[in-house]
Amino acid sequence: MTNTGRKIIFNGSKILFGIIIIGFVILQMTCSDGNKRPDGNSFVIGFSQCTSGDEWRRAMHQEMKRELAFYPEVEFLIKDAQDDNERQIQHIQTFIKQKVDLLIVSPNEANPITPAVEQAIQNNIPVIIIDRRTTSDVYTSFVGADNYEIGKTAGEYVVELLKGGGKVLEITGLPGSSPAILRSKGFGDALAQHPNIEVVGKINGQWQENIVNQRLADTLLTFKAVDLVFAHNDVMARGAYNIFKNAHSIHQNKIKFIGVDGLAGENGGIEMVMDSVLDATFLYPTGGEDAIQIAMDILQRRAFKKENILQTTIIDERNVRVLKMQSEKISNQQQDIERQQSRIDEQIKIYKNQRNLISILVISLLAALVLGANALYNLQQKQIANKKLAAQNEEIVQQRNKIIEMAEAAKVANEAKLKFFTNISHEFRTPLTLILGPVEEILNSSIATKNKHLRRDLKLIRANAIRLLRLVTQLMDFRKIEHNKMRVRASEQNAIEFIQEIMSAFERTAKRESIDFRLITFEQELLVWFDVNMLDKVLFNLYSNAFKFIRKVDGKIYTTITKEEETVRISVEDNGRGMSPEHVKHAFDRFYRGEDYSTIGTGLGLSLSKELINLHKGEILLFSKKGVGTKFDIILPLGNAHFLPHERVAQADHVSSYEHYRIQVEADETADLLSTSPTTIKKDTTILLIEDNDELRTFLKNKFTEFYEVIEAADGEVGWQKSLEFVPDLIICDVMLPRKDGLTIVEQLKSDIKTSHIPIILLTAQDTIEQRLKGIGVGADDYISKPFHYALLAEKVKNILYNRQILRARFSNELPTKTSAKSASNDGMNSIDRQFVNEFISIVNTNIDNPNFNVNVICKQIGMSRVQLYRKVKSLLGYSVSDYIKTIRLKKAQQLLSETDLPISEIAFAVGFASAAYFSTAFKAKFKISPSEYKNGER
Ligand code: FRU
Repeated sequence: MTNTGRKIIFNGSKILFGIIIIGFVILQMTCSDGNKRPDGNSFVIGFSQCTSGDEWRRAMHQEMKRELAFYPEVEFLIKDAQDDNERQIQHIQTFIKQKVDLLIVSPNEANPITPAVEQAIQNNIPVIIIDRRTTSDVYTSFVGADNYEIGKTAGEYVVELLKGGGKVLEITGLPGSSPAILRSKGFGDALAQHPNIEVVGKINGQWQENIVNQRLADTLLTFKAVDLVFAHNDVMARGAYNIFKNAHSIHQNKIKFIGVDGLAGENGGIEMVMDSVLDATFLYPTGGEDAIQIAMDILQRRAFKKENILQTTIIDERNVRVLKMQSEKISNQQQDIERQQSRIDEQIKIYKNQRNLISILVISLLAALVLGANALYNLQQKQIANKKLAAQNEEIVQQRNKIIEMAEAAKVANEAKLKFFTNISHEFRTPLTLILGPVEEILNSSIATKNKHLRRDLKLIRANAIRLLRLVTQLMDFRKIEHNKMRVRASEQNAIEFIQEIMSAFERTAKRESIDFRLITFEQELLVWFDVNMLDKVLFNLYSNAFKFIRKVDGKIYTTITKEEETVRISVEDNGRGMSPEHVKHAFDRFYRGEDYSTIGTGLGLSLSKELINLHKGEILLFSKKGVGTKFDIILPLGNAHFLPHERVAQADHVSSYEHYRIQVEADETADLLSTSPTTIKKDTTILLIEDNDELRTFLKNKFTEFYEVIEAADGEVGWQKSLEFVPDLIICDVMLPRKDGLTIVEQLKSDIKTSHIPIILLTAQDTIEQRLKGIGVGADDYISKPFHYALLAEKVKNILYNRQILRARFSNELPTKTSAKSASNDGMNSIDRQFVNEFISIVNTNIDNPNFNVNVICKQIGMSRVQLYRKVKSLLGYSVSDYIKTIRLKKAQQLLSETDLPISEIAFAVGFASAAYFSTAFKAKFKISPSEYKNGER
């Protein structure tokens, strides 16, 4: 996707996010209400009610609730003090702590409640006092009727009713509550002007009917003759009526009962008047509705009045019916209103749900629109990208086709090459056979028996011819396999016997090299179907390799034959040099030659072995670890079901025989003679590379490092200095060099006694005879012209070092105690080296009886450093200087022991040993025989 595409998609998601946020804001806004406080919460109104144990109070709550329906966001909390001052004080304080927005209080008794109300005002909570008052005017608003007026009107009504004379009983409310105080006062004031009306008694009814029942029953006799009872509320009046009715049925008609409240509905004051229980009652409104209205005015910061006095009226037989009707109507209307209200509530609910739904729909629609647009854009981008991809694809297909064409062409070319190669190989067979025949003949003739050298050379010819023949056969086998022309001719054979036969060809070598070469198996006879000529090749190849890479000391090659359930496993395991993981990975690849170019061969053997085992439906596995050893497992299926009928033969046409194997092993060994000898050169051989081309030098260094210690020099001067410093075993030196050219270096080194023995191979770009002659003329040991094959150079290096080794070996066998004329001409040394050897030997001979004679003495006399002398002697004679001196001394002693009658102790001194005992030890160590035994002729 392009950058712009990404940006737009990014913008799309941003827009989507924005829409969702806006949607939520709209949702929030549409859901919010005006009743909420500025901080978003609803108002909390606390109502401290003195009691809720009677109808009048319940009517008050009813009214409040009805009014609150208009303010759904108001939280309204009622606490009922149950006529208890202490409890009510606690309730008010809790509301203050709760930080209600407004407090409504109907105090139980005026005095005790006043401080709590004042505390609320101090805490900035507006307080509405309802019905009963406190003693102070510290409050926000009051709502209720004028109780003094009620008392007074009641008094006036009584005067009228009693026609100016009679006895009255007053039943009061809770004396500390303001309505009780005020109603009593108004009533008293109205009667005061009528002395014939006497208040015969006052009973504290505490606003409750049952208390009146108790107290009046106790004192009834006292008030037998009353004409009228004025109770401060209707329920107390009813209590009095019932008491009097039960006790004085005769008088009951005469006694008049007046109450206060005038509640509508069942058992209310209006009904009591209707039922003539009461003669009259005074309408005393609860003020519930007004209180809520005033509260909302205060909370919503509208104008309100502090004193809200509610109207009252008298209800008696004159207006009770009308009022009842009215109250019933009102009640019905109220019920209607409530029904309407609940319907409205339902509608609001539905409306809110619908509103939310619409908001969600709108948001979803917008989101869908944005996503749709985005998707559309993406689609467009994808189409563009797809087009591009298609174009690229087309290009790739074209390229692939080209590659296929090229590969095809390469295959054809390769095929042609291989064909040619195979044909050539095939052509080799006849000449090789023609070489082998006569060679074999001469070998068996008397000429060869007599001439040792000729015999050796003939064997070498035969060996290499056999080797070539084998390679050619391998190559042709490959071609056959590739063209499916290799036919298995499987017959049933005793595998044990077969393997033993192949092994026997290697036994002589094993014995000579002290290799533990054995077969391990529990089977006497194991019948297996295989192609003898194929398995023979495979096993022969495995053994050849094992013997090639076996360690020289403590070498082991074990063959294990195990019969498994449906297979036979032939393991050939050695403790030879092993392979690196990389080598193991490619070991079966055709033409793969491991790290060691000189010893692996053509890389055909293992690959061919695998193919041959595959033809047997078997497996060949390789396990190897560098420095530990190698194991090959050949797994062949038992029975013959895996071979096609035409692949099975009754009789094997096996061409192999012991002699056949033996000749091959010998051929390998003989042919290896030249190539394997350098492998015995230890890594203490040092080569100096003087080459200014960094790449070539590094390449050569990397190659040679595996076998030799390599020192480098990038110019002639450094090369010359390093030659003197390290005295290497061989120098490879470029001719064209900065600071000092190769010919000069050769000249200087060859004429310096310290370095004259070092073989030098010159590298040059010019392959001219003159150059060559010049190089050889100044004393170079060999010459190779660029470009050259590394293998060729490596071969030259090996050969030169090998020759040196042979030379040294000769010296160590027949130690030159004096340089003879013969050795001087045939030793392959130059004149300087010969001169050096002569001088060195003569110094040693002169000092043979000197016990203090050592390396330092020679260094001084010849004028060489210890290192130079050591390196030179080691290189020329194969001995360290001190070993050489010791050997000369012991050889001289040997000579004296056999040729003279001198006592051993004297001989010891004569050859420079300071102690006879040390002489004997050294002598025995060298010749494995003590001097006395030697003298006695026990040699
Ligand atoms: C109800 C009541 C009424 C009375 C009022 C006075 O609790 O007793 O009957 O009129 O309280 O506060």
